Amino acid sequence: MNPDIKTIAVIGAGTMGRGIAYAAAFGGYTTVLEDISPQMLEESTRWITKSFDEGVARGKVDAKIRNRASSLITTASSVQDAIRDAELIIEAVPEEMEMKMELFTIFDKFAKPHAIFASNTSSLSISDMSDLTVCRERCIGMHFFNPVPKMKLIELVKTPFTSQNTVDACIKVGHRMGKEVVLVQESPGFITTRVNALIGNEAFAMLEAGIASAEDIDKALKLGLNHPMGPFELVDLVGLDVRLNILEYLHQTLGEKYRPNRLLKEYVQEGRLGRKSGRGVYDYSEGETASRKT
Ligand code: CAA
Repeated sequence: MNPDIKTIAVIGAGTMGRGIAYAAAFGGYTTVLEDISPQMLEESTRWITKSFDEGVARGKVDAKIRNRASSLITTASSVQDAIRDAELIIEAVPEEMEMKMELFTIFDKFAKPHAIFASNTSSLSISDMSDLTVCRERCIGMHFFNPVPKMKLIELVKTPFTSQNTVDACIKVGHRMGKEVVLVQESPGFITTRVNALIGNEAFAMLEAGIASAEDIDKALKLGLNHPMGPFELVDLVGLDVRLNILEYLHQTLGEKYRPNRLLKEYVQEGRLGRKSGRGVYDYSEGETASRKT
């Protein structure tokens, strides 16, 4: 039986970790955000405050909820400290299986009895992470989307061992965070990553073949198919390195149709990783708005 969830620990204060901490505090949970880098924690705290203020300004977050949520968040610089009182632990570290497996063994040793261990992985196997723990029934995937405050979905990923209690507890948490939840049986890339990786890879194939410019491919998907962002705008937001890792994993596990496009690989080798490096498919060197010089 899982306990009532009151405290959520989020491990890793990168783009996703800070977004998940925002959602946890928004849901009224005592929230501990962990990172080994004090600078990341400072940046995250500033980002979370700014996001809550934006939510209030846009009428999406009640000022009282913002004030309460701000008082619910603390930070920690060690995993052991962060997870001590948590009934739900969500890891949001980079997509490296070894790192995630090591974290799950730490959770297993030091978490409260009955705590749920969740991974925000966008494609990797939760079963592989949970094989190392004594509590496979309390391991689950909770896949959030960037930018978390604005994105309405959580993909819950159930392994053959995840208990119904764990699923139910995470659905409840998702709803309190203000999200819709879909349930998926574990499979590489789940639902969203599997589809999105194909669209993104195909967009690179078209660009490489000279079928259209990046700008026109983005425009076509936005205006012709009503995608909120074009595939290149999106990959620049997500990170080209992140997308390449995902495609490599899906290629290994699901087969040939996921072979990463050559141009994508070339951009990553050149350090064109997206907004975070100042240049991805588009150039951001003169600020946040992409110049259309590719
Ligand atoms: N809290 C709550 N809601 C907020 C908010 C806040 N702090 N700030 C803004 N909002 C609300 C806005 O009021 C607005 O609500 P309505 O739609 O009800 O009016 C909504 O969030 C969108 O806000 P904006 O108007 O600022 O945003 P936009 O219309 O320019 O859209 C976008 C921005 C949501 C990012 C949109 O472009 C989009 O959906 N892009 C695609 C993003 C995407 O696909 N992300 C997934 C990437 S893949 C991933 O993350 C998974 C992975 O594992 C790699």
